[in-house]
Amino acid sequence: MTSSRNRISKAVIPAAGLGTRFLPATKATPKEMLPVVDKPAIQYVVEEAVTAGLSDVLMVTGRNKRPLEDHFDRNYELEEVLRNKGDATKLTRVQESSDLATMHYVRQGDPKGLGHAVLCAEPHVGDEPFAVLLGDDLIDPRDPLLARMNAVRDEHGGSVIALMEVDPETIHLYGSASVSGTDDEDVVRVSGLVEKPSVADAPSNLAIIGRYVLDPAVFAVLRDTAPGRGGEIQLTDALQALAADPSLGGPVHGVVFRGRRYDTGDRGDYLRAIVRLACEREDLGPDFRDWLRAYVNKEM
Ligand code: UTP
Repeated sequence: MTSSRNRISKAVIPAAGLGTRFLPATKATPKEMLPVVDKPAIQYVVEEAVTAGLSDVLMVTGRNKRPLEDHFDRNYELEEVLRNKGDATKLTRVQESSDLATMHYVRQGDPKGLGHAVLCAEPHVGDEPFAVLLGDDLIDPRDPLLARMNAVRDEHGGSVIALMEVDPETIHLYGSASVSGTDDEDVVRVSGLVEKPSVADAPSNLAIIGRYVLDPAVFAVLRDTAPGRGGEIQLTDALQALAADPSLGGPVHGVVFRGRRYDTGDRGDYLRAIVRLACEREDLGPDFRDWLRAYVNKEM
């Protein structure tokens, strides 16, 4: 199959992981629903897709899917109470998430890995290129990444992944890419990928982060991808097959992202996301910054 060069209109958001790093908070609640200041993490991700022009969103859910679906649905009872109180500000906040995008849902069943979650999207996506946004990866709204990835796909076809330079000692926590440069300073050609390599085996300190623009050829490759690391079907393994043989679905390029990104499935990064976004909010920021400055000076 050759690379399909249509424009992208659909976003897939895998949100069926178990979130074990965040137990017990994630025992009965998906980690994507944990609040970052006053919005669940997943709402930032859907907003990012919509900002990039992708208002058809398919969420891949697992157990505990109800809160995710409810959050993007209308809540007539709450809306009625707020309307009767004349509280227009809160009413707008409640309606924002249900007016955001056209939402679709598919169940993954067993969480057999990110690659398997993406494969569950095939009946909805069909034979079109599409974007994948990991539901627990928050890209700061001021640092647009997806638009740049779409532009790279328009230019080169194939698939585009997002990469970030990390401390080489931490590369074992990510997928790592083997790359060569292109004419664009922030774009690389990917020749190989390995999921969570040991520090010694990592081809580079360029880590895969949770945004992808994928050629539909990835579905056929995923179907043939055997379970890899951790017994899960790894998206990185399918992308490695695409990178190794461009006749399958075009080349694989990487956009090297240098903006702000938070892994909200990691407790430390989650706390950093909240502090940073709260400090920068116009409504909460001034008071919160004063408190934080005093706290740091006095207690630390
Ligand atoms: P993670 O590696 O963060 O998985 O998945 P996890 O299992 O949720 O987290 P921990 O390590 O147990 O805390 C990366 C993304 O892929 C999704 C997750 O929801 C997350 O957005 N995912 C992962 C699925 O949708 N299905 C899976 O089977 C695995």
